[in-house]
Order: sequence, then C-alpha cells, then structure tokens
Amino acid sequence: MTDTSPLVEGLLRIHKVISRGLNISIRKCDEYLGKQGIPPGEAMGFSMYITSLKWVTHAHHLSEDEIIFPYFKDKIDAPYSRLKDDHKTITHILDVLDQCILEISSGGVGKLREVLGEFEKLWVPHIGIEEQNFTAEKIKTIMDLKEQVNFAEKLSKHGRQNSGPGPLVLPFMIYNLEGSDREAFVLHFPWIVKKVLVPVLWKGQWKPMIPFLL
Ligand SMILES: [Fe+2]
Ligand SMILES: [Fe+2]
Repeated sequence: MTDTSPLVEGLLRIHKVISRGLNISIRKCDEYLGKQGIPPGEAMGFSMYITSLKWVTHAHHLSEDEIIFPYFKDKIDAPYSRLKDDHKTITHILDVLDQCILEISSGGVGKLREVLGEFEKLWVPHIGIEEQNFTAEKIKTIMDLKEQVNFAEKLSKHGRQNSGPGPLVLPFMIYNLEGSDREAFVLHFPWIVKKVLVPVLWKGQWKPMIPFLL
C-alpha cells in the first residue's frame, strides 16, 4: 500500500472517536427526551462521557493549532483561517456544554441536545475540510515515513498532556473505536496501560460510561 500514512491514520482515528462520541451523545439525548428524562442510573456515566468528549476535542484542536497547522502552513495549501475560526467557535460550544452537563439531571437535556446539534453542524464540514486537504498523498511529498512517525509521537505526547484524566479519557478513546482502529490506537501503549490500568485498575472510575461505549 503506497497510500498509508501514520499521520493521516492518526488524524482519521481521532476524528472517528470524536464523531462517534458526538453521535452517541445526540442519540442518547433524543432517547432521554423521548422518555422524559435521563434514567438515574445513566446520569453520571452520561456526564462523564460528554465531559470526556469535551476534553478529547479540546486536546485535538490544541494539537492542530499548536503543532499541525504551524508545521503544514507553508507546505500544504488549506483554508487555515477557516479551520482556526471553527476551533474557536467549537471552544465556545464546549464551554456551553460544560454548563449543560451540570444541568442534565434537572431537565436540561433539551438544551444539551441543542448545543450538541450546533457542535455537529460545525464538526462534520470541519473534518471534511481537514481530511480533504491533509491527505496521505500530500503528506508523503513533505515528510518521509520516519518523520511522520516522530511527528505522530509528538502529537500523541501533546495530546496526553492536554486531554484530561487518563482513567476517563483513555477508555473513552479506546472504546469509541473498534476492530483494526482500536488495535492500531493501542499498539504502542505500554503493556501495563492496556492490560492492567485501563481494563482493571481504572475500571471502577470509567465503568459508568459502559452503556455508551463499544
Ligand atoms: Fe480541526
Ligand atoms: Fe481535526
């Protein structure tokens, strides 16, 4: 396969995590609205799920603003100002989401649904632009495989520093992916993280999110 790029694959994977997180959150809101409320047993897990979605989105946009866009700006043509403006608007949406999370048990699901809808309306075209412009083909012309692997490593380190508590965010990312995406995502994780921390020691913390995960 001449068209594979570890960098593009990483970008597509994180987009998949956020897209699924957003999609499930919207579907669940619709379900709760139909039932006239959120079942008490799901309220905590749902707010953890949306909070994790917020952290992961924030960290992803920070990585793009601070690392990806500055590096690619003079090398790959793309509507960088539009992308950065979208990030700013989404940051505002994430702040409002935070407020909505506090109110979900007291009938605030309708407002949450509305804000998630605004998020989705921006998110779908936004990742469309990124995925159309930052393709494996273009990236290959400016970086060799080793440079891409190093760059991807730098991005994941940056992401870890900015994405909130590992015991919630890591399971959120791992279990919003499935099959080969999940395998590739955890491939370079230390053994202790994938075999002990996430599935055993941290499980008590992230367990309430299980109804929303794969
Ligand atoms: Fe972006
Ligand atoms: Fe992105």
